[in-house]
Amino acid sequence: MPDNVESHPETQAETQPELQGSSVLSAEELRAHWMPFTGNRQFKRSPRLFASAEGVYYTTVDGRKVFDGLSGLWTCGLGHCRPEISEAVSKQIATLDYSPGFQYGHPLSFKLAHKVVELTPAGLDQVFFTDSGSETIDTALKMARGYWRSRGMPGKSKFIGRIKGYHGVNYGGIGVGGIGFNRKLFGQSVDADHIPHTVLPENDFSRGMPEKGAHLADELEELVLLHDASNIAAVVVEPMSGTSGVLPPPKGYLNRLREICDKHNILLIFDEVITGLGRMGSLTGAEEFGVTPDIMTLAKQITNGAQPLGAVVTKTDIYDTFMDQGGPDYMVEFPHGYTYSAHPVACAAGLAALDVLEMEELPQRVKSMSAYFENAVHQLKGAPYVKDIRNYGFAAGVSLEHYPGEPLRRPFELGLKCFDKGFYIRWGADTVQLAPAFVVTEQQIDSFINAVGESLHELP
Ligand SMILES: Cc1ncc(COP(=O)(O)O)c(C=O)c1O
Repeated sequence: MPDNVESHPETQAETQPELQGSSVLSAEELRAHWMPFTGNRQFKRSPRLFASAEGVYYTTVDGRKVFDGLSGLWTCGLGHCRPEISEAVSKQIATLDYSPGFQYGHPLSFKLAHKVVELTPAGLDQVFFTDSGSETIDTALKMARGYWRSRGMPGKSKFIGRIKGYHGVNYGGIGVGGIGFNRKLFGQSVDADHIPHTVLPENDFSRGMPEKGAHLADELEELVLLHDASNIAAVVVEPMSGTSGVLPPPKGYLNRLREICDKHNILLIFDEVITGLGRMGSLTGAEEFGVTPDIMTLAKQITNGAQPLGAVVTKTDIYDTFMDQGGPDYMVEFPHGYTYSAHPVACAAGLAALDVLEMEELPQRVKSMSAYFENAVHQLKGAPYVKDIRNYGFAAGVSLEHYPGEPLRRPFELGLKCFDKGFYIRWGADTVQLAPAFVVTEQQIDSFINAVGESLHELP
């Protein structure tokens, strides 16, 4: 164990001897699971397996304590295994383990929807539940198209996403998404075009929102000229891209997108699967950046990662349009939903997680500590291969110089070195992403950033 990690006397691995050692899985077992977004061949040669988690640490199956530098997958801002959530889940699963979501309901989903409405900006008043970020985005796209059809404008069906945008992996999401690698094996899906990304070399090493780049929103006017607003349903962006390496919006950029959408009668969808519920230092990116979309997607942090749940939050006008077109009582107004939409156990987890978020004032904590995190992360400037650093709230992206012809290799090697030292970070494209839990301490931030710095110095 590295000496910059606090000792952790009672790990679950110690109480579960059968999990110790590196031989907890047979070759057949390892082969059976086709892992998501993972280099399966490399992983199965050298598995990285977690057995338990508590607070801001994981414990591996061989008893090693690992700092969680990405809050799970941007999910666990409250820290792991919060008793408030575990108890709510245990109680719910023993009381109402499942309830059909179609034509029948249970009170928790209505209570959770009401809580989400309270926490999101004024005007976003109805909540549709899904099970993941990807489902949430595809639901939002269907809502947007259905809305225009219901209003007698079926031509408004094209979507405008943004290069480098990530909106999950379902067919709608990869269509509006702007990451070629995620699409090229599978082909185009929904009809979509893309505005440029906002990464500009003159903004390198910006702290928070970059000064330059608001003008890039005007590219939307070019696409409106090209396609005509009568053919465009919605613009879909993350207020701050996370997966592409943390790209905070340039100052004024989101306001400009909002103005152009209003001018041309185009819906604006904010994908807040990462930015929603605390990470930015406010309850949502919309609140933090002062721009309200017509539709907002949430997932990840809504249950603190403890149960799969996503939420699409819409303006009343959108909900009312579907209701007004609904027809007789036996008709459903929106023919869409998942078997596990508003699952009672997920709703119980969501209510407990949002309660903790509010009671402990964790978005405020992120805001008050974000300067500390920013200073710590920017100390990596000048370390080997660091070519840019970006940050906002408790999120930072570090871009690395490419190995000749191998842009993905160095972040991968950095991630493995950090893991060897007891720190988990995420790598993707030519960046690594850092996103500690909202409950992290200054000392833990220091250890974390020191470990990343040391690992950079050890890269070949
Ligand atoms: C902005 C955004 N949208 C959608 C998704 C997809 O979420 P999920 O993996 O839960 O389907 C993600 C996941 O990282 C995301 O960051």
